[in-house]
Amino acid sequence: MMRCDETAAWAALAGHFEAHGRGFDLREAFARDGGRFAALSVEAPEVFADLSKNLIDAATLHFLIDLARECSLEAQRDAMLAGAIANATEGRPVLHTALRAPRGAGPFSADVHGVLDAMLAYAEQVRADGAITDIVNIGIGGSDLGPAMAVRALQPFCNPRQRVHFVSNVDGHDIAPLLATLDAKRTLFIIASKTFTTQETMANAMAARAWFTQQGGTDIARHFAATTTAVKLAADFGISTTFGFWDWVGGRYSLWSAIGLPIAIAVGAEHFRALLAGAHAMDRHFAEAPLAKNLPVLLGLLDCWYRNFHRFTSRSVAPYHQGLARLPAYLQQLEMESNGKRVDAEGRALPFGTSPVVWGEPGTNGQHAYFQMLHQGTDVIPVEFIAVKTPAHALHDQHAKLLANCLAQSQALMLGKSAAEALQDKVPTAAPGYDRAKLAEHRTFPGNRPSTTFVLEALTPRSLGALIALYEHRVFTSGALWGINSFDQWGVELGKAMASQLLPRLASGETSGLDGSTAGLLARLRGA
Ligand code: F6P
Repeated sequence: MMRCDETAAWAALAGHFEAHGRGFDLREAFARDGGRFAALSVEAPEVFADLSKNLIDAATLHFLIDLARECSLEAQRDAMLAGAIANATEGRPVLHTALRAPRGAGPFSADVHGVLDAMLAYAEQVRADGAITDIVNIGIGGSDLGPAMAVRALQPFCNPRQRVHFVSNVDGHDIAPLLATLDAKRTLFIIASKTFTTQETMANAMAARAWFTQQGGTDIARHFAATTTAVKLAADFGISTTFGFWDWVGGRYSLWSAIGLPIAIAVGAEHFRALLAGAHAMDRHFAEAPLAKNLPVLLGLLDCWYRNFHRFTSRSVAPYHQGLARLPAYLQQLEMESNGKRVDAEGRALPFGTSPVVWGEPGTNGQHAYFQMLHQGTDVIPVEFIAVKTPAHALHDQHAKLLANCLAQSQALMLGKSAAEALQDKVPTAAPGYDRAKLAEHRTFPGNRPSTTFVLEALTPRSLGALIALYEHRVFTSGALWGINSFDQWGVELGKAMASQLLPRLASGETSGLDGSTAGLLARLRGA
């Protein structure tokens, strides 16, 4: 397998970047080519994407697709989908796509559909249980972010009679105020942990069990369920209602598995199946569409172009839908835990950048916070806008305002505003020391700042499934080009180990052998 920087296409891209990429101007590109929008927009299942406001042209795409071919992207994709060991450092296949394949279609279909049927039957049973009003999912990382993001996104589809809460942080400020609002007889706790050993989740699970018992609760079997690959550990904890999954499901790729139980309870079995079906439709697009019209592939290639040639270090996500408020946090784990790597699959240090920083807030809120920097800051940060055509409310005027803002931001980023235009502004009396010309400099926007806009018809279980699968495959694509293992996460281990070593020292005050800063902080926190 060739790594991106070893290919002829990489050298061609470097030459193309110097000749046409560095000085590429979006405004000129649109002026030159009336067909640019049509040529650079892609219709994928449930997601329309306008790529035309990106710093690319037909030649860039040509070289990028050559890069994909030379890196054997299609062979790598096919191998992953067929169950090859795509996570080599842990010796595991990577088969989250099997979780959404129709019955009888994907690898491990009997196992997958056996658990899915049981999990959905249980979800329906909980939904029909008049005594249960609150469901609390206790999990962190992939055992929290996906379900929390999806339940929020699908709020119009949720059972209004039952509230679904998410507790993740080991910080007692997360679970304690929630417990204070709950009635033990009316609460179901789901302990969600792939490994069933994660410190935060076990601490919160024990706090929940202790609280339940203190409240006089005895029926753990009825009020606790677990979603885990470690069925035995859940049983040792005292939980008998357990839905399992497998080590070939990565934590950040697990919302389609039993980890999706809170989603299924919130929206019901039929909508959960629609979520899976939307993801499966995107899987097929990824597996079958030609590279030039394959949306996840194009996005992954664009990520490589921006990160490695333009050297942009960050990408902002701006969902213009309040329901997608947790999407940026979800994508941070998906993308940065997957592709935040500094060595390739062979363990060789990489001479180029990998995962960008991914961040964002829903529009229009972000506009009134950090968009200043996006428009006029010294760094160029590509933005990904997500617009939803049909809202789930009847406030149509507000929806029109939302969409106008979404369109305006990508337009303003691209078009900018020259100093000459700014001079024409009718500004109120300038501040002392600021003549019109000097003030115009402050009111100038460089423009030519790239963005992508996704359009969904409506935010539904099906379209959400497709959107998330799109992001998963885009992360696979850039990871495959960079030659890294996108499916391990060794970088989280060191801090975990050190926290375990520091825990007893917090109690004892023992600081011998610690660095000066950690010793000083530990003493300060103990009040010594
Ligand atoms: O610490 C990182 C991580 O391992 C994530 O990859 C995972 O999603 C999260 O912790 C939670 O792990 P678990 O589901 O095993 O509790």
